[in-house]
Amino acid sequence: MRAADVQSEITEVLVTEEQILAKLEEVAAQVAVDYAGKELLLVGVLKGAVMVMADFSRALPGEVTMDWMAVSSYGTGTRSSGVVQIRKDLDTDLHDKHVLIVEDIIDSGLTLSWLLTNFASRGAASVEVFALLRKPDAAKVHVDCRYVGFEIPNEFVVGYGLDYAEKYRNLRDVAILAPHVYS
Ligand code: XMP
Ligand code: MG
Repeated sequence: MRAADVQSEITEVLVTEEQILAKLEEVAAQVAVDYAGKELLLVGVLKGAVMVMADFSRALPGEVTMDWMAVSSYGTGTRSSGVVQIRKDLDTDLHDKHVLIVEDIIDSGLTLSWLLTNFASRGAASVEVFALLRKPDAAKVHVDCRYVGFEIPNEFVVGYGLDYAEKYRNLRDVAILAPHVYS
């Protein structure tokens, strides 16, 4: 785990930590207005959304509750399979809750569209999505995403929670992973 190794494994920083934190403040201010007077339940999608959830939830004024769901659609590769499995379900009953799903990235959109369908049957008062990153070129299915942090090009990215084979999640910025790492 040498810094020099990591340097050679990323080609370009796309979004810096500073830009991310500024964006989270901006989105949090909007969410605070949109959910004024409502009880908000944040649902983080493990594991990629851990960093977004940590910083976004603390940027929100007032009280929120938090829950987590773990799904997998990727294995250890870099392409969505479209086959989604629940690895850990929510602990919370969604009935009458205002739910905001917190996601790291929308790539094909397959994972989120599956999640939204899954949540629709659980009786929530509302379900919306905040994704820190979205790859517009990659969308295979349309996902109604109310809040988006950054539109990024169709490259495999790591950092700020995003991994390749469980590595790079602790990088502070979001960066493009060098193709030689996974090809
Ligand atoms: P889909 O394609 O279903 O993907 O929208 C959703 C999940 O796939 C992961 N993902 C990525 N992870 N770099 C990553 O480290 C990427 O470029 C990337 N694209 C998708 C991610 O977990 C996301 O929630
Ligand atoms: Mg994810």
